[in-house]
Amino acid sequence: MQRTFYSEAQMLAFARLFGRFLQAGDVVALAGALGSGKTTFVRGVVHGRLHSDPTSSPTFTFAHRYHGDPPIDHLDFYRIDDARELAELGLDELFDGRSIILIEWWKNGPSFTPRQRFEITIEGAGDSPRTLCIEAVNTRALPAFM
Ligand SMILES: Nc1ncnc2c1ncn2[C@@H]1O[C@H](COP(=O)(O)OP(=O)(O)OP(=O)(O)O)[C@@H](O)[C@H]1O
Ligand SMILES: [Mg+2]
Repeated sequence: MQRTFYSEAQMLAFARLFGRFLQAGDVVALAGALGSGKTTFVRGVVHGRLHSDPTSSPTFTFAHRYHGDPPIDHLDFYRIDDARELAELGLDELFDGRSIILIEWWKNGPSFTPRQRFEITIEGAGDSPRTLCIEAVNTRALPAFM
């Protein structure tokens, strides 16, 4: 599925909708250049589910949990160099199927790529529109209304 957004507000509205479709155990793997909108998308998902505005940036905290039912874990592998480094961070416990997990720069942590995932690749940066390619990999299909 592909969608183009001409403003940040448009992308946020879609992310809120997408977020309500997610359930515990889902993993969303986000890719795209610096400044393409990965964090913006996560903000929309969190806002859509928890009706609160996320303020912290995982680029500096690496992993951030938003408390809710289920909780939402926002991970950012930007600074991760190899799988060993990731293993040392003790991430395994997070992947227990009880939370919704969103990962920025997921390709930096191949050992944490679950078989079932929603892959979102964002094209565009700066003032250009953003095109999102969303793929359901080994998991349930996206609803038609999206
Ligand atoms: N159509 C659009 N959709 C989303 N964001 C947009 C759009 N147009 C402009 N922007 C801007 O692009 C920026 C996206 O920043 P964001 O932090 O979400 O990117 P990122 O992919 O998480 O980057 P990083 O790889 O550094 O973590 C924001 O400043 C946002 O306002
Ligand atoms: Mg980001």
